[in-house]
Amino acid sequence: MNHLVAPSILSADFARLAEEVHDVLEGGADWIHVDVMDGVFVPNITMGPIVVEALRRKFDCYLDVHLMIERPERHIDAFAAAGASSISVHQEATPHIHRALQQIRSHGISAGLALNPGTGLDCVAPLAEELDLLLLMTVNPGFGGQPFLTATLPKIAQARELLDRLGKKHVPIEVDGGISPDTIRQAAAAGATVFVAGSAIFAKPNRKEAIMSLRSVE
Ligand code: DX5
Ligand code: ZN
Repeated sequence: MNHLVAPSILSADFARLAEEVHDVLEGGADWIHVDVMDGVFVPNITMGPIVVEALRRKFDCYLDVHLMIERPERHIDAFAAAGASSISVHQEATPHIHRALQQIRSHGISAGLALNPGTGLDCVAPLAEELDLLLLMTVNPGFGGQPFLTATLPKIAQARELLDRLGKKHVPIEVDGGISPDTIRQAAAAGATVFVAGSAIFAKPNRKEAIMSLRSVE
């Protein structure tokens, strides 16, 4: 199976962050998803490059950094230097999304374009040459534990079709928000292959079982 599971540490116990990350990696996590929030682009505030740097010092894993911050270009270099494996930026957060994606790639890491549930796919084609990853939000960003928005399913399917048509079959679609053993099936059927899950993993005492039940979609 080529599906990837990316536990979001937003739902982890921050007082025991290293143990939590170790636990999900032992449990079979493919990527560690790091939700960065600035209290401006989204109502919540979480963590900065210092946390990415601390995780990088301890773990050799893929760190998937999701920037939910205004004008992300101000902080891309710092997150790259901290050891991010990929950085995703929101189209809604900057008038210079094309340049922001180029800036990410200039560090030799993967560039992700993130779109809110209310944002259409019009921007995808003009950015296709700069994209390594398309992150489609399946909740409005800001908090973990929100219900999956089924209205985003047609957009996932359309995005897959569009990327394929543009010759970007290798660009994966990552879905983020409300992913559970129930909703993952629908998102996978629509064409997503990378699945972020916060509460569906960290709220469970046995992370290995939680990750396995997300993997059993096929
Ligand atoms: C939402 C974040 C998500 C969130 C997912 O703003 O981008 O990554 O942590 O959490 P769950 O899986 O609980 O919806
Ligand atoms: Zn996220």
